[in-house]
Amino acid sequence: MSPLIQMHQITKSYQLGKEDLMVVKWIDIEIHKGDFLSIMWQSGSGKSTLMNIIGMLDNPTTGEYYFNGRDVAHLTDDDQALIRRENIGFIFQNYNLLPRTSALNQVIMPLIYQNIGKQERTERALKALQKVGLADKINNLPNEMSGGQQQRVSIARALVTNPSIILADEPTGALDSKTGVEIMELLTELHKEGKTIVLITHEHEVDAYASRHILLRDGNIVN
Ligand SMILES: Nc1ncnc2c1ncn2[C@@H]1O[C@H](COP(=O)(O)OP(=O)(O)OP(=O)(O)O)[C@@H](O)[C@H]1O
Ligand SMILES: [Mg+2]
Repeated sequence: MSPLIQMHQITKSYQLGKEDLMVVKWIDIEIHKGDFLSIMWQSGSGKSTLMNIIGMLDNPTTGEYYFNGRDVAHLTDDDQALIRRENIGFIFQNYNLLPRTSALNQVIMPLIYQNIGKQERTERALKALQKVGLADKINNLPNEMSGGQQQRVSIARALVTNPSIILADEPTGALDSKTGVEIMELLTELHKEGKTIVLITHEHEVDAYASRHILLRDGNIVN
């Protein structure tokens, strides 16, 4: 089976004055359907940069990127956004929830972008919130929920479109260790149900949950 994601010799450089800072260095990554892949990389090194490239929120400086066999490195932003909406769910360290929006409406939002009808999107959002254990918090605003609950909302939001892949950037980074374990157990359960998950982290405890591992050092793959 051809890989869901194939990246070849990816680099990302930022310009700092006259100098180029190369953060991601000549990376090859293959991600297959059903993977629970962890990419471990130390803090401040380029994890979010790499996740943004995988999620098509940013483009690599050089290299090839194929998503489902399609060359996506050279598409317009709009075409990338279309692929992203249909295929990718994001989980961020700081949840990225809208401040004045209920849990239910946060989860409904991506379905509005997909032009799903009102009844279906409400049903699907409720089901996703139930799945992450938040059936009793659907009307709560982010500031009326704990960090762990907010991250569950963001997981429900990532799941509700039934994406091909879920990308998680330090999903437990803002949580205490007990809540972090609960979130990782939830992701593990989703993987067992067949979801493809890519996790980017600097923590061994988080990395341990994945079933395949890539270790980066100085922007290069170590193993
Ligand atoms: N837009 C940008 N312009 C210039 N430099 C940038 C930009 N974005 C990131 N960087 C630099 O790239 C490096 C990696 O940043 P990135 O946020 O990807 O790291 P990270 O591993 O996610 O960090 P953290 O562990 O703090 O989340 C840093 O040195 C950062 O200063
Ligand atoms: Mg980061």
